[in-house]
Amino acid sequence: MAAERKFEHIPVLAEEAAELLDLPADAPARLIDGTVGGGGHSALLLKRFPRLEILGIDRDAAALEAAADKCSFASGRIALVRGDFARMAEFSSGIGWSEVDGILLDIGVSSPQIDTPERGFSWRSDGPLDMRMDDRNPLTAGRLLNQAPEAELARIFREYGEIVQARKLARAAVAMRETQPFGTTRDLVRLCDEVLGVSRPGRLPHPTLVFQALRIAVNDELGQLERALESGVRMLKKGGRIAVICFHSLEDRIVKNFFRDESTGCHCPPGLPVCRCGHRASLRIVTKKPVVASDAEVAANRRAACAKLRAAEKL
Ligand SMILES: C[S@@+](CC[C@H](N)C(=O)[O-])C[C@H]1O[C@@H](n2cnc3c(N)ncnc32)[C@H](O)[C@@H]1O
Repeated sequence: MAAERKFEHIPVLAEEAAELLDLPADAPARLIDGTVGGGGHSALLLKRFPRLEILGIDRDAAALEAAADKCSFASGRIALVRGDFARMAEFSSGIGWSEVDGILLDIGVSSPQIDTPERGFSWRSDGPLDMRMDDRNPLTAGRLLNQAPEAELARIFREYGEIVQARKLARAAVAMRETQPFGTTRDLVRLCDEVLGVSRPGRLPHPTLVFQALRIAVNDELGQLERALESGVRMLKKGGRIAVICFHSLEDRIVKNFFRDESTGCHCPPGLPVCRCGHRASLRIVTKKPVVASDAEVAANRRAACAKLRAAEKL
C-alpha cells in the first residue's frame, strides 16, 4: 500500500553536491548513488553530465520504483539495485565496475518513509512499530522493544538518541512490556511521556530522540555508514570524489572523523621514533567546513535545515 503513494522527496543540497562531485562535463564517468531514494539527486546528475552512468542503490523497494520513474529519461545510463550501500563493491562488480569516479551518500530516511504511518517511523502518527527501511529485514522496532535485554535497550537509547535517562527508560520499557507488549507507535509515545515527561522548550521532543535511536538500531545506520566509507574509498579512482550528506551529528561525526583519519598519514602515537602503523593518507578533504543549505533552500524545504555536506577526493 505504501508503494502506491506518490513518492515526494525534495533532494537536499543537490546543486552543491553536484558541484563538489566535480564530474567530467563531457567525458564518460561512473558514479554510485548509494541512497538513490526517489532519484532526485541522480536525475539532476544524469541531466547535468550527459555521459555519466549511475549505479543507484537503495534498501527500499518503493524508493527504487520512484527512482526508476524519475530517471526513465536516461534509463540506459542508470542501474538500480535493492540492498545495503555497505555492499556497494559487490553490487558494482555485479555490473562489471571495479572503480568509480564518484560516490554520493544522502544518509537517513526519505520524506515518504517518515510520512507513511504504516512504516512506523514517525511518532506523530499512529502505526505499527516497524521502522525498517528494508521490509525483508526480520528486525522491527517492535521486536527490539519487546525482546531486547534491558541493557541493550539502554545502550541504544543512550548511544543513538543521546538520552540522559536511557537506563530509566529501558527499565520502564521492560516493565511495560511485561504487562502488555508494545504494539504501535502510540505505545512508545506513552512510554516516553510517562518516563521522560515534557521536553524542555527549544529542545527536540523526547519521542523524536527515542524514535531516532530505535530507527538507527533497526537499520544499523551507523555501522552501514562506516562500512560504506571504507568500501567507497577503495572503489574511487585517483581524483574521484565522495560526497556525503548527513542529517544528524552522530552520522556527521563519523564522516568528519573518517575524512580526517584518511587524509592524514601516520597514525602512530606522538613520540615514536619510527612509524609502526604504515598508514598512508588516501583522501584530500575538499570541504574544510561542512556545506549547509542556504536560507532559501531551508525556507522551501524544512528538512534541509540540519543537513551537512562533506566531500573528499581520492589521492
Ligand atoms: C534521504 S533519502 C535519499 C533521497 C535521494 N537522494 C533523492 O534525491 O531522492 C535516503 C535513502 O537512503 C536509503 N538508505 C538509507 N540507508 C541505506 C543503506 N544502508 N543502504 C541502502 N539504502 C539506504 C533510504 O531507504 C532512503 O531511500
